[in-house]
Amino acid sequence: MSNFQVAIDGPAGSGKSSISDLVAEKLDFTHIDTGAMYRAVCLEALNRGINLENEAEYTFLKDISVENIKKHTYLNGVDVSKEIRTPKVSANVSTVSKMKSVRDKMVDFQRASASKGLVLMDGRDIGTVVLKDADVKIFLTASVECRALRRYKELIQNGEEASLEEIKKAIAERDYKDSHREISPLKKADDAIEVDTTKMTIEEVCNKIISIISERMNSNGKF
Ligand code: DC
Repeated sequence: MSNFQVAIDGPAGSGKSSISDLVAEKLDFTHIDTGAMYRAVCLEALNRGINLENEAEYTFLKDISVENIKKHTYLNGVDVSKEIRTPKVSANVSTVSKMKSVRDKMVDFQRASASKGLVLMDGRDIGTVVLKDADVKIFLTASVECRALRRYKELIQNGEEASLEEIKKAIAERDYKDSHREISPLKKADDAIEVDTTKMTIEEVCNKIISIISERMNSNGKF
């Protein structure tokens, strides 16, 4: 079976996950949300009450199974798609995802699931580390203000309380942590195409990415 890999990276709130979902659905690719996988490990670590800063306490990694299939995330076979989106997980996931043992385990899972078929994987280090030879690499960006406003509207629409200032602060903090960590920091791969979504609608971003992928599929002779 032919293998075609698309890597989409970008900071928190850049729209990666929803855009990846839409593009994958349109082109019939399998979408793998790697952020959801790190969130699942964070949930397990929180449930176990370990000291998140102490890598020696992550012994549970040897028995863990984490999968992201069709918009659902499974932790040891249990669907935790809702539990991984709580503010507590969001606030702690950067600490968990900077651990080498966590990254090594997740990267193994991710590479194994991207080895066959048409795959679109989104995250922070997909183009730089996980799928270095991906056929298409996209780096999505947007200003902090724009990303905070999108998240704020999403929460309000879901009937939740939210403070725009607090969201902006949390996003800026996560940006800093994700791009300054020692292992696999968030950064654009040299051969990635940067798409600044600040002034674009979701539809415009999707159309742009779809045309980049379609062009590459036609030109590389695999399809
Ligand atoms: O995309 P997200 O907000 O759901 O990601 C959650 C966290 O996981 C994010 O703070 C950084 C981390 N992450 C990572 O380190 N590497 C990835 N490939 C994806 C996410």
